[in-house]
Amino acid sequence: MAQFHCRWKKLVICLLLLFIYACVMLRIKMTNTSFWGKPSQVKALWNHLQLVSERRYNPILRPNISKLRFDSESLLWEGYSEYTDLENGKSNFDAQPQLMKDFVSHMQQRDFPILIQPDGICGAGAKNKKKRPLLLMAIKSSELNFRNRHAIRQTWGRAGWVAGHSRNRSRGEEIGGYVRRVFLLGRESPEELGVDVLELLQAESKLYGDILQWDFKDTFFNLTLKDVLFWKWFSHVCGPITFVLKGDDDVFVNTMNLITYLQDQLQKPQTHKTLKDFIVGHVNSMKLPIRESNSKYFIPDSFYTGFYPSYASGGGVVYSGLLTRRLHVMAKRVHLFPIDDVYMGMCMVRLNTSPINHPAFITVGLHENEKEPCFYHRILLVHKRSPREMVNLWAYMKKTQTECRDVPLKETGQG
Ligand SMILES: *[C@@H]1O[C@H](CO)[C@@H](O)[C@H](O)[C@H]1NC(C)=O
Ligand SMILES: *[C@@H]1O[C@H](CO)[C@@H](O)[C@H](O)[C@H]1NC(C)=O
Ligand SMILES: *[C@@H]1O[C@H](CO)[C@@H](O)[C@H](O)[C@H]1NC(C)=O
Repeated sequence: MAQFHCRWKKLVICLLLLFIYACVMLRIKMTNTSFWGKPSQVKALWNHLQLVSERRYNPILRPNISKLRFDSESLLWEGYSEYTDLENGKSNFDAQPQLMKDFVSHMQQRDFPILIQPDGICGAGAKNKKKRPLLLMAIKSSELNFRNRHAIRQTWGRAGWVAGHSRNRSRGEEIGGYVRRVFLLGRESPEELGVDVLELLQAESKLYGDILQWDFKDTFFNLTLKDVLFWKWFSHVCGPITFVLKGDDDVFVNTMNLITYLQDQLQKPQTHKTLKDFIVGHVNSMKLPIRESNSKYFIPDSFYTGFYPSYASGGGVVYSGLLTRRLHVMAKRVHLFPIDDVYMGMCMVRLNTSPINHPAFITVGLHENEKEPCFYHRILLVHKRSPREMVNLWAYMKKTQTECRDVPLKETGQG
């Protein structure tokens, strides 16, 4: 009996130790993952800056703040000034590499004039204004990528009515949706480029009505600005559009599959609720910033610490029009971050939602099954295709349409 009692005691002690261990581990994990931990512990510039601004938006700390101020960016800028006035903030800024210094000194400015935009409507393809568009293709391009834009218009990016697969539908019911298209551009410096292509772009815009250009420098670190300005433009100019495809001008999209996939989402129960948070793509979870200084994604730990939030790769991602509007509002409370898809992940965390992973979005590296004859019939989107490849692939898709008719979309766990 005494022996039994003793063993029982040991078990309790054991369980207690295990519990304490679990608590400590959880605590460590939480301080690592939450990207706005405690102010005293946060040394990295972006984390600290965001934290200072977060406190201004805290309704408990500031109960009397007006709704108007709450919905504007002014509190964010107040946080910025407060932080940069701090001794800590100054020395932190001085410790940054030049690239980050450039970024930080411009990160307060978000308002850039539009140079070219579609004529009063939300992108090309708005001929049938009565029908609610299913999808707006918003493609990040740059001034000189004329060939990419041309290839996209001819192939997967055609605007207007696009048919989906109707194989599952009864009575010959046609499935499809109206698609609109817009290219998102910044500005190259004419001095650096040696020519000014603005007139060419104006002509292109007249011809196709799908150019949206802002007057900011089109650099990698300014891509976040492109997102934020696009959300703003969308919220002000576009009517109810159900989905947005945001992608690079070097992706290849299986438009027919995408339209079918999106229509299927609308058939699901409770769509009006799920659409509010809908975002799907190739999801990266628990990623740490790249610390190699020669990488284009380099983020020093003096700038950002901790894991990135879950985010969908920016090469190609689809989200709802409702979410676009919510992102537009939320972005006013989150300081710009140099990497656009990570930034979107940060706004998503603040919206208390996260992206859905779909294996048919192939945004990284080459795929081993690419040689398989029906590979492109099984995907939604694949990254890194040249304009010539897009045109060839499109022709190939047409050619293999019959033999690949019944292949399913790629699913989790399949090669
Ligand atoms: C908030 O407003 C109320 C009256 O409108 C005032 O009595 C109170 O002192 C204010 N609180 C703060 C923290 O400013
Ligand atoms: C289409 O048919 C396949 C196979 O019968 C089925 O698995 C799939 O769920 C169907 N899709 C829709 C949208 O009905
Ligand atoms: C972003 O664009 C602005 C306006 O053209 C420019 O001043 C700034 O240097 C750019 N930022 C980066 C990080 O390239």
